[in-house]
Amino acid sequence: MTKLTWLVTGCSSGFGKDFVHSILARGDNVIATGRKAAERLAHLKDTGATILDLDMSTSEEEINTKAQEALKIYDGIDVLVNNAGYIDFGFVEDFSYDRWLAQITTNFLGAVTLTRALIPHMRSRRSGTIVNNGSMLGWQSLPCCPGYCATKYALEAYTENLQIELAPFNIRSIVFEPGHFRTSIISPTNRTESYSSHPDYAPTLEMLRAHFDGNDGNQPGDPKKGVELMIDVVKGEGLAKGKEMPPRLPMGSDALEVVRKKCWETLKTCDEWEKAIKSTDFPADVPAYKYNGDEIASSK
Ligand SMILES: NC(=O)c1ccc[n+]([C@@H]2O[C@H](COP(=O)([O-])OP(=O)(O)OC[C@H]3O[C@@H](n4cnc5c(N)ncnc54)[C@H](OP(=O)(O)O)[C@@H]3O)[C@@H](O)[C@H]2O)c1
Repeated sequence: MTKLTWLVTGCSSGFGKDFVHSILARGDNVIATGRKAAERLAHLKDTGATILDLDMSTSEEEINTKAQEALKIYDGIDVLVNNAGYIDFGFVEDFSYDRWLAQITTNFLGAVTLTRALIPHMRSRRSGTIVNNGSMLGWQSLPCCPGYCATKYALEAYTENLQIELAPFNIRSIVFEPGHFRTSIISPTNRTESYSSHPDYAPTLEMLRAHFDGNDGNQPGDPKKGVELMIDVVKGEGLAKGKEMPPRLPMGSDALEVVRKKCWETLKTCDEWEKAIKSTDFPADVPAYKYNGDEIASSK
């Protein structure tokens, strides 16, 4: 198979780090990016990866410049993996405008900006793959991390846009939806958190803290296996051999359960509410018209 060149964001730890090792083990090129690369990606330097400093919360101009720099390293990029992300824990009432902005900038707008910077290159080549690392929390929100969940939902919608708009140019896109995987994302030393001190929230906070602390280090998902699966899907190898790349793919038994449950619940609502849902349509015998407020007011 042709040697691919990958660019992966957020490679200092977790999925990103494992991506770098697995991509190299399969004989492909990888540009490993991250914040403070000289310090935080030093451990990847000897593996054969090319290191590039890239903070996903930086300006559009800076991300565009880095993308152009990256394109020159191996004469192009075949696969972009938007992986960088973090969780800021706090109740909706705690979440200031700045906290929302920070989550959205890193987890969503950074990925959007980098993708946009690379699309012209992929379009001119009529090939490329865009991988977004979403989450099962892009299907079901979890209390206490509203910003994170919103960015994962946004990545779902964005990936669908990419799929529709870029398919004519042979550019594929996918959003992976990992469940809980054993990385340091929710470790107390890694996570960002700030909670309301209001006693009304104390019982929920206590329950959530116990949940997160109990989950940290006990997550069912193995990130190395997750990365192998994601690479298989991109390359059409292993468990993905002979299969077409799906638009989205949950990863892990917990993610499968969440996605199935959401689908069942949504179908149940559609069935139970079908009559009410359809009640807002114009009757079939009302003539078609161009949008105009007066005409709407006078239509029956
Ligand atoms: N682990 C899970 O259970 C799970 C589940 C669903 C989805 N995910 C997704 O998987 C992705 C990777 O997370 P992980 O689980 O591997 O956790 P992780 O070990 O904490 O890795 C997160 C990575 O994102 C990087 N990052 C954070 N902010 C950044 C920024 N502004 N610019 C560039 N890089 C930045 C971090 O780099 P620094 O060292 O510079 O902070 C780190 O390399 C995330 O998008 C996460 O949402 C994880």
